[in-house]
Amino acid sequence: MGRKVLLFLFVGVLGAWYLYTPLPVNNEQPWELMCMDVGLKTVSNLMLLVELLGISHFMTSSLFLMRFLETPPTSDENVTVVDTTFHNISVRVYVPKRKTKTLRRGIFYIHGGGFCLGSAALYGYDRLSRLTANRLDAVVISTNYRLAPKHHFPAHVDDVYNTLRWFLRQAVLQEYGVDPKRIGVSGDSSGGTLAAAVVQQLTQDQDVKVKVKVQALIYPALQGLDFDLPSYREKANCPILSRWLTLRFCSEYITTDRSLEKAMSTNQHIPVHAAHLFQFVNWSSLLPERFRKGHIYKKPTFGSSALANKYPGLLDVRASPLLANDTQLRGLPKTYVLTCEHDVLRDDGLMYITRLRNVGILVTHDHIEDGFHGLVSFGLKFGARAENQYIKWLSENL
Ligand SMILES: *[C@@H]1O[C@H](CO)[C@@H](O)[C@H](O)[C@H]1NC(C)=O
Ligand SMILES: *[C@@H]1O[C@H](CO)[C@@H](O)[C@H](O)[C@H]1NC(C)=O
Ligand SMILES: *[C@@H]1O[C@H](CO)[C@@H](O)[C@H](O)[C@H]1NC(C)=O
Ligand SMILES: *[C@@H]1O[C@H](CO)[C@@H](O)[C@H](O)[C@H]1NC(C)=O
Repeated sequence: MGRKVLLFLFVGVLGAWYLYTPLPVNNEQPWELMCMDVGLKTVSNLMLLVELLGISHFMTSSLFLMRFLETPPTSDENVTVVDTTFHNISVRVYVPKRKTKTLRRGIFYIHGGGFCLGSAALYGYDRLSRLTANRLDAVVISTNYRLAPKHHFPAHVDDVYNTLRWFLRQAVLQEYGVDPKRIGVSGDSSGGTLAAAVVQQLTQDQDVKVKVKVQALIYPALQGLDFDLPSYREKANCPILSRWLTLRFCSEYITTDRSLEKAMSTNQHIPVHAAHLFQFVNWSSLLPERFRKGHIYKKPTFGSSALANKYPGLLDVRASPLLANDTQLRGLPKTYVLTCEHDVLRDDGLMYITRLRNVGILVTHDHIEDGFHGLVSFGLKFGARAENQYIKWLSENL
């Protein structure tokens, strides 16, 4: 009897410890968030076990499970939804049903999922795209792209750039009734990385005549050089996206070779011959004072050049859009950036804002003080607030 009680207590305490995630005060939906985090943590731990047992790669089994959160392309009373392909890559297209005599705005959306997970068909993304199409009376193209670990950089960015270029062709814009002067590119998380990368690429591409009017980056990852930013230090164990998971995603994007992840975890993955690139991600000069407070900038510790020689993606501007120099940034369109306080990726967004403003790009910044990574695609109430801010900006600027 006594032993059973003890066991019960033990399991209870363990369970409470497992469930409890310290949350900042003033969050409107602490329980919903905590439950979601615990759900994700549990699934992720199970998938790690599956990987440890040699059954399946962590990301492959996670991606498989995610398929159950997908929804078919179903039209509703306001929006016609179809799956099709652009340049052999599958995209989901949302066209408003209401009649219009003028051309519509076009939004090219890139989903997140750490370069390994996710799709345009995920319930949260499908909902966001419908909402955007309906509220803005816009055509939304939500693109898919090849994922890691099956495909590594630059497959993702190549796919997205190819679908974007396909969309920007005159014949395609005409087919969907899209105004070539009112096109925006948006993405969240790793989709924000890809959005920033393809918009940079587009501004320098002489072959594409149609340019985008705006870009919107929702808690984007923008560099893979420095994983010791204040946000990585402070938010390493925040819900939804931990530092550990971020490094797993970022390293898988480049290679399945786990030695890269290991080097990243101690921030020793960049060789000394690339030291000059740290000027572009130098948080001690690029972060606003209030985010730097209490942190001391440490000179980067350089690693061996073997990794960077083997995986040149590590130093590629298409994987780390913050590495673009000022000349390259100057051509960029009007920009919206949404950052969340409790997010390891917070400082990536903040540094990009500083760099863009330094060269005269107009940037609107929404910082969600009680926000967590991924909040827009989860469908919680405080996510809807951020979502509304993003859609409002598009409606006023696109
Ligand atoms: C259709 O649009 C109206 C007006 O914006 C909205 O109230 C309604 O909820 C929408 N229907 C769906 C299925 O989203
Ligand atoms: C699409 O794939 C088909 C079959 O693999 C190929 O013949 C065609 O050239 C591809 N089209 C483009 C635009 O890549
Ligand atoms: C970063 O900026 C600080 C000034 O804020 C400077 O002292 C330091 O040398 C810079 N480091 C690098 C690696 O660019
Ligand atoms: C910026 O980068 C581009 C492309 O790599 C290069 O051609 C150009 O010289 C660079 N500009 C400066 C000022 O470094």
